[in-house]
Amino acid sequence: MIEVQSLKKLFKKKVAVEDMNFYLEDGESVGLLGPNGAGKSTTISMISTLMPPTKGSVKYNGKDALKKPEELRKDLGVVPQEIALYEELSAYENMKFFGKIYGLTGKTLENKIQEVLALVGLIDRQKETVEAYSGGMKRRINMAVALMHNPKILIMDEPTVGIDPQSRNYILDMVRKLNREKEITILYTSHYMEEVEKLCDRVYIMDEGHVIASGTKDELKSILSNEETINIQVEETKATFTDLLFSQQGINQVMEDDLGYSLITTKGEQLLGEIFDYARQTNVKILGVHVQTPTLEDVFLHLTGRKLRD
Ligand SMILES: Nc1ncnc2c1ncn2[C@@H]1O[C@H](COP(=O)(O)OP(=O)(O)O)[C@@H](O)[C@H]1O
Ligand SMILES: [Mg+2]
Repeated sequence: MIEVQSLKKLFKKKVAVEDMNFYLEDGESVGLLGPNGAGKSTTISMISTLMPPTKGSVKYNGKDALKKPEELRKDLGVVPQEIALYEELSAYENMKFFGKIYGLTGKTLENKIQEVLALVGLIDRQKETVEAYSGGMKRRINMAVALMHNPKILIMDEPTVGIDPQSRNYILDMVRKLNREKEITILYTSHYMEEVEKLCDRVYIMDEGHVIASGTKDELKSILSNEETINIQVEETKATFTDLLFSQQGINQVMEDDLGYSLITTKGEQLLGEIFDYARQTNVKILGVHVQTPTLEDVFLHLTGRKLRD
């Protein structure tokens, strides 16, 4: 459906995206995972033809979508990171407004509004003004607007940032339903590994403007097929302990945060003895140790030495 080659975006001298290769096939649910500033929003702005790339091509069904964007735009629903709604209008009025822009009128428009409101679970609150809504409800209306013209592809830019857990779950379930039941192709960006893990078949991991890994979830995790993660919860981290962990053979990455350490290792449980010894030697109090099979977060940690949520 969509195929992107060697996409690049420069803002003055700042490289926001470089050498981005990407494809999206009919019916897929694809994730763009990366920390803040990775280049996710810039990438989807270019893919959705809202921002011209400095270099590279975007094709839709084999045709140049940068020269002739109409076909792609017609099939695309985009939910931007920023809420784009009229605050003083009700949800219903917003949807009517955007529906008319898409050329819907009369009964068709009315039916579509009610169908989409049902989908986002806001039928009974449609008469309230948007300013009275919670952040999560605004997001849902934002998504509803993007669905008004029956898009084949829905692109969402971090739709769950800063909203309550209940709305978040609602949105995740909704996205899954749109993909599985309505057969809408999904491109979902997030810096939450769990969301991408839950929703997406295929994933592109981005960092500092580059795709650093891509593939199905299993393919990505197989990068770490011989490795495990050990999470160590400590009362207080200490540089001397950290140094010992770094120097230990079989520990490939050491990441430190407020709660303790995450290690990526090929030796798993065999190292627990050493870890406890080092803690004793350096007077670090261990509160808990947990060995787990890798997640997408660990893949990112392995590739960059950093956590997604820096
Ligand atoms: N309009 C802009 N002008 C200058 N720099 C920008 C602009 N938009 C984004 N950037 C920079 O490009 C990089 C990628 O940003 P962005 O695509 O928003 O990342 P993400 O969505 O993954 O957080 C960041 O370093 C950001 O500061
Ligand atoms: Mg962004």
